[in-house]
Amino acid sequence: MRLVPALFAPVLATGALARSVSYPFGQTPIDKQGNGHHGHHNIDIVGSPGDDVCPLPPIVTPPNDGFHSSLDFVHDSSIRQRQVERLSRVVQVPSTSTELEDDPWSDYYAPFLDLHDVLAESFPLLHSYAKLEKVNRLGLLYTINGSNPALKPMLLMAHQDVVPIDDPNDWTYPPFSGHFDGQWLWGRGASDCKNTLIAELSAVEDLLKQGWTPTRTLVLSFGYDEESKGEKGAGHLAQHLENRYGKDSFEFIIDEGGMGLLPLGDKVYAVPGVGEKGAIDLHIALSIAGGHSSVPPAHTGIGIISEIIYHLEREQLFTPRLDLSHPARHGLACQAKHSADYVEPWLWSALESSDFAGLAEALAASRGERMRFLYQTSQAADLINGGVKINALPEKINATVNYRVALHENTDIVRQRAIDIITPIAKSHNLTFSAFGSGKTGESNNHIDVSDFSLALEPAPISPTSPSDAVWTRMSGVTRQVFESILPFNQTVIVTGDVMTGNTDTRFYWNLTRNIWRFSPMRYGGSANIHTVDEKLDIAVHLEGIAFYYELIRAFDTWEE
Ligand SMILES: *[C@@H]1O[C@H](CO)[C@@H](O)[C@H](O)[C@H]1NC(C)=O
Ligand SMILES: *[C@@H]1O[C@H](CO)[C@@H](O)[C@H](O)[C@H]1NC(C)=O
Ligand SMILES: *[C@@H]1O[C@H](CO)[C@@H](O)[C@H](O)[C@H]1NC(C)=O
Ligand SMILES: *[C@@H]1O[C@H](CO)[C@@H](O)[C@H](O)[C@H]1NC(C)=O
Ligand SMILES: *[C@@H]1O[C@H](CO)[C@@H](O)[C@H](O)[C@H]1NC(C)=O
Ligand SMILES: [Zn+2]
Repeated sequence: MRLVPALFAPVLATGALARSVSYPFGQTPIDKQGNGHHGHHNIDIVGSPGDDVCPLPPIVTPPNDGFHSSLDFVHDSSIRQRQVERLSRVVQVPSTSTELEDDPWSDYYAPFLDLHDVLAESFPLLHSYAKLEKVNRLGLLYTINGSNPALKPMLLMAHQDVVPIDDPNDWTYPPFSGHFDGQWLWGRGASDCKNTLIAELSAVEDLLKQGWTPTRTLVLSFGYDEESKGEKGAGHLAQHLENRYGKDSFEFIIDEGGMGLLPLGDKVYAVPGVGEKGAIDLHIALSIAGGHSSVPPAHTGIGIISEIIYHLEREQLFTPRLDLSHPARHGLACQAKHSADYVEPWLWSALESSDFAGLAEALAASRGERMRFLYQTSQAADLINGGVKINALPEKINATVNYRVALHENTDIVRQRAIDIITPIAKSHNLTFSAFGSGKTGESNNHIDVSDFSLALEPAPISPTSPSDAVWTRMSGVTRQVFESILPFNQTVIVTGDVMTGNTDTRFYWNLTRNIWRFSPMRYGGSANIHTVDEKLDIAVHLEGIAFYYELIRAFDTWEE
């Protein structure tokens, strides 16, 4: 998981937003008649969200199945001790992944075999009741058939791999020690995402121990290279599942991700990722005549590539936008209704306006630039190569630019923009130009080519979050039940979807269901340093996660829409 800039981060950092935030829509606020320069329809600036806005879903009470309360996970000290041991043991296995090793049979991946042994020892009931298949050598697929094949299976995901370590000496405790200090469990993968892996497995093991036999089929699918593209693990697992069950065959999929649970004033927001931005890398390659650098042209190949990047960073800039279909809108409406004292006073009227770009710009201005990229395509020139010697003109020069594509755009918009910007530059240097396979002349010299550098990904389909959607509403009701009973002071939990700026393994699973939730059920502040030195997890957060998966499985097991 790549951590997302939190919708709430600036709110959390500064406490309540100042009520004095000025009206952000340029000079002219939308007036009550809607005659302001942004208003094309009637907007009541003093209006407030009505009853129909962000209704709270009914709390889903646990079924009458005789199983113990999920609160036991949070309060029972012997469970806590057992979970420390389980999580520590898997953190001790250095199951890193890398883009540099494509062969799952290579020695590099040997630690995953150790991880599989640890899982088999830690979860004996699962390993005796479930069918376990290893897909593409190291992907783990557990299936426990339900008694009612008419119910679509539920699918729990996590990834087995972790990000490699840079310098272990920088760590307070060795990165694969799984050290527990009484509150925090330290080590690479403690929160991303062996916590999720072990919480899911522990919930299932505990149900099996109580004699649970599923009505709805339960599938657990764990890839092993999420941190390096995911193709070997999730790519194969998803294909396998699609071959077996077909398209739209799962009730829901839950994986790591999202923003967890975030406090805002007297409420707590649970924020599953219900979408992901797209991604594309463009590779720009220039071949040009070389020669001695004592008699250079006005612009060397390095100069020309630099000129292209200069213009990419200044022309036809991407703008943020919060269209009606953007899932963050619903979350913002919830904030305007349920947390009005803690958000911008103009938020509700801005949401009612049809100025979708103005709203996104205003939020970016008010909550910080990190927020911007939830609504805007990002562009970053990350790689550049060229030149071999100080007295020789460069002949082969290339650069790679990374884009994360916002929901209102797509990868073709990014490609076309590159063509539009590069074409006149190529012409001005008398270079031929080919793009994405067309315009190739066969002549390679004095030529610029732009191509996809890796597999491009469109923005993910948005999972339903409407109050009228029964599956979303049920998951939300379970989330309320679990966390409202755990959190102190009877806080209300409001469940709202948002998008992620990075991609999870779920990008391979789109065909399997429309209900994909990227949701690590972790409270704000309960984990630290994901992907960097001193990654650690508050064990309380781990225990709460088990409670959540336990209730989620029970709530959906026999339920029919
Ligand atoms: C589970 O059910 C499927 C049919 O949905 C069947 O093909 C498969 O053999 C069953 N697996 C086990 C272990 O019973
Ligand atoms: C980019 O240029 C460098 C240096 O000329 C070269 O080694 C590399 O292979 C090029 N990359 C691609 C993807 O063509
Ligand atoms: C552009 O290149 C072509 C052949 O590559 C050459 O015939 C022509 O004279 C060049 N024009 C300029 C303006 O350099
Ligand atoms: C929480 O709610 C319950 C039931 O409504 C009530 O009995 C209890 O006193 C409340 N606790 C706090 C701290 O407000
Ligand atoms: C999903 O379905 C489409 C259409 O059949 C297919 O092209 C694609 O390969 C499938 N898999 C994924 C991962 O999207
Ligand atoms: Zn992750």
